[in-house]
Amino acid sequence: MSKNAMVCLQCGHRSLQWLGRCPDCSAWDSFAEEPPAVVRGTRPPARAGTTVSIGAVDPEPHQRVATGLGELDRVLGGGLVRGSVVLIAGEPGVGKSTLLLQAAAGVENSGRNVLLVCGEESMEQVAARARRLGAPRKTTLTAGTEIGQIVALMGEADVVMIDSIQSLRDPDSAAEPGSVSQVRLCAGALTDAARQTGAALVLVGHITKDGSIAGPRALEHLVDVVVTFEGDRGHHLRTVRGIKNRYGATGELGVFQMGPKGLSEVPDASRFFLAERHTETSGSAVGCIIEGRRSLALEIQALVMACRPPAVPRRVAQGLESSRLGLALAVLQKHCNVQVADCDVYASVAGGLRAAEPAIDLPLCLALYSSKTGKPVPSGVAAVGEVGLAGEIRSVPGLQVRVNELFRLGFHTVIAPPVHGSDILAEPADSKGPKVVRAASLGRAIAILGRTATLSKI
Ligand code: TYD
Ligand code: MG
Repeated sequence: MSKNAMVCLQCGHRSLQWLGRCPDCSAWDSFAEEPPAVVRGTRPPARAGTTVSIGAVDPEPHQRVATGLGELDRVLGGGLVRGSVVLIAGEPGVGKSTLLLQAAAGVENSGRNVLLVCGEESMEQVAARARRLGAPRKTTLTAGTEIGQIVALMGEADVVMIDSIQSLRDPDSAAEPGSVSQVRLCAGALTDAARQTGAALVLVGHITKDGSIAGPRALEHLVDVVVTFEGDRGHHLRTVRGIKNRYGATGELGVFQMGPKGLSEVPDASRFFLAERHTETSGSAVGCIIEGRRSLALEIQALVMACRPPAVPRRVAQGLESSRLGLALAVLQKHCNVQVADCDVYASVAGGLRAAEPAIDLPLCLALYSSKTGKPVPSGVAAVGEVGLAGEIRSVPGLQVRVNELFRLGFHTVIAPPVHGSDILAEPADSKGPKVVRAASLGRAIAILGRTATLSKI
């Protein structure tokens, strides 16, 4: 009797026997039996016994179908690829169904057929939302959730959208819809069908708070493209991020705004993130990150307040890693003599964006310093740089791109890492126009702030 392997529902680690704790991701009680046909259909069949010179292979044979949403198409690498599978993963309520409807409208406008499988909501609900959004009129809907029925309907469609993969079921399996085995069986069958019919398949998958897709990460291996759709319900901002792409670059970021008329694209995201900035207030500094081919200016905010003992000082980081905040505070305390150890500290990226780049260290430190001292960072000054444990400012990739973006937005001074260890570059005393001021250490950067503030008062 053949025995199925066990698989960790969190990270996909395989084992021949059940384990109480996953040796890979350390999750407890996360092993379940893996269905046998889990990786079928991930690639087109190889042409055995034939060879071809590498120069004779067309590197871009893919036919793309644009969704008409420029921000999404860019993340996808130019649109949906026929015969391929895209997974759009996001938390419930973030706006995945809305994005799908708007993308369906764009596909429809280019004269292609769309099949939308509504497994989560009734067809009436979907149609009502489509009318309200002025979205698709010709898209074919089905409310079926049995995988065989859906595969049978796929023949006519150029694009098939499944909302969501967790709502489908294969009646041959006794497992519940949404369970790891059902999700994998259904995704496998749909993938096979898409490869055969040449339809572009879009799967919506719910993720949990900790970021895992459908419980398992299993689907990520099965599909060609994975994009995550993120956003905080308290903010209008929604981002689409490419985390896997067999047909293009990853790391691209698409920015949308959720409003009463659905999602609208935000082509100038930097201005969007800086729109609500209060320039006269302390605790705010501007930096710049790079996402894919795009540079994005953003505001880092900090609030530093005395904490009365015996209360334990709080450290709250929103939109940035708490380890970055911890390091920034330690460097300020140790190397710049800024007393923050006994303070409650809150730091966030304004606008609801998530930024994980080391280049935000310097603006973060300046925002913390500004809040602690009550001195605003001069409004025309921005900063870019990683801060090291010795308080040194370290170089970051793409400095010129970041500086250009900040100059475009009207900043006149960008504090930046030194060139090969040298300190502040000599700027002509009468230099007019925007300039980059190099600083070797956080202490130097703070001194530049003071100097710029005095100059701007003159
Ligand atoms: P939805 O697309 O249903 O999310 P998901 O499929 O990811 O669960 O949209 C969820 C939220 O988006 C809903 O709570 C309300 C908001 N929303 C708007 O603000 N404006 C709109 O035009 C639409 C359609 C939704
Ligand atoms: Mg939905």
